[in-house]
Amino acid sequence: MDPTVETVSYDEVAAIADLIKKKLVDTPILGIICGSGLGGLADIVSDPICFPYSELPGFPVSTVAGHVGQFVVGMLGNKYVIIMKGRLHAYEGYSMAKATLPVRVMKLLGVKVLIVTNAAGGINQDYNVGDFMIIKDQLNIPGFVGINPLRGPNDERFGPRFPAMSKAYDREYRKLAKQVAEELGYSHYLREGVYCSLGGPCYETVTECRFLQTAGADAVGMSTCPEVIVACHASMRVLGLSLITNKAIMEYDSDLAANHEEVLETGRKQACVMLKLVSTIAERMVI
Ligand code: HPA
Repeated sequence: MDPTVETVSYDEVAAIADLIKKKLVDTPILGIICGSGLGGLADIVSDPICFPYSELPGFPVSTVAGHVGQFVVGMLGNKYVIIMKGRLHAYEGYSMAKATLPVRVMKLLGVKVLIVTNAAGGINQDYNVGDFMIIKDQLNIPGFVGINPLRGPNDERFGPRFPAMSKAYDREYRKLAKQVAEELGYSHYLREGVYCSLGGPCYETVTECRFLQTAGADAVGMSTCPEVIVACHASMRVLGLSLITNKAIMEYDSDLAANHEEVLETGRKQACVMLKLVSTIAERMVI
């Protein structure tokens, strides 16, 4: 089996969605995917109902430190939401279809808007560790060689064969995110830029970072782009936020090196800010 063309059928997605739906009291209209160390959002949901991935048929289980592995459904402020606490990455060995399955499950549950958060390395040299970046566009490097979650037969019930990606990150929600950040006094942390994803799991070489900078990327990570492709395919509106957890190494012979502990540590330090930012944006979103 070629992992880039494995598909998950509509019926398989529907079976998972039906199992979840049976226990819900309302339709979640907003989905949120939590990046490395940013899962605290799920803990402030009221009347939560939890669905461990291991109890969902055919659902992959996340294996990375900092990712717990369950859907949490409940009220976040004024909205009934579904939160993915623990994301699935292709580098864990999942096919693209499996890694993005949660987005399709959300779609069949009635989710209209997706907020994706992630931890990312700062390619843009003006960015500081601890900054937040509103994603305005993405650069999906694996897609250049055909590694795309939509590869394989297209099921029109999810979306069209050739979806547009030029408006992937909703302009209105980006504006809202900026407004909210300003109101909360977070402007000095806030950036807007291009997120680039690579396959991981290794961090980038100096030459790769320099290449990404030339290509127009401001931040780099190992997730998000496939999920956003699947969300756009399914006509969901998307807001993306990156937490800059480390600076990409741009100088040959630098003594510094990226590491997961630093990523998690920055996540912990800025968790409160991220939580306040995302929950306030969610509250103010008109869906
Ligand atoms: N590179 C790739 N992924 C990441 C990084 C990085 O520097 N930081 C957090 N996730």
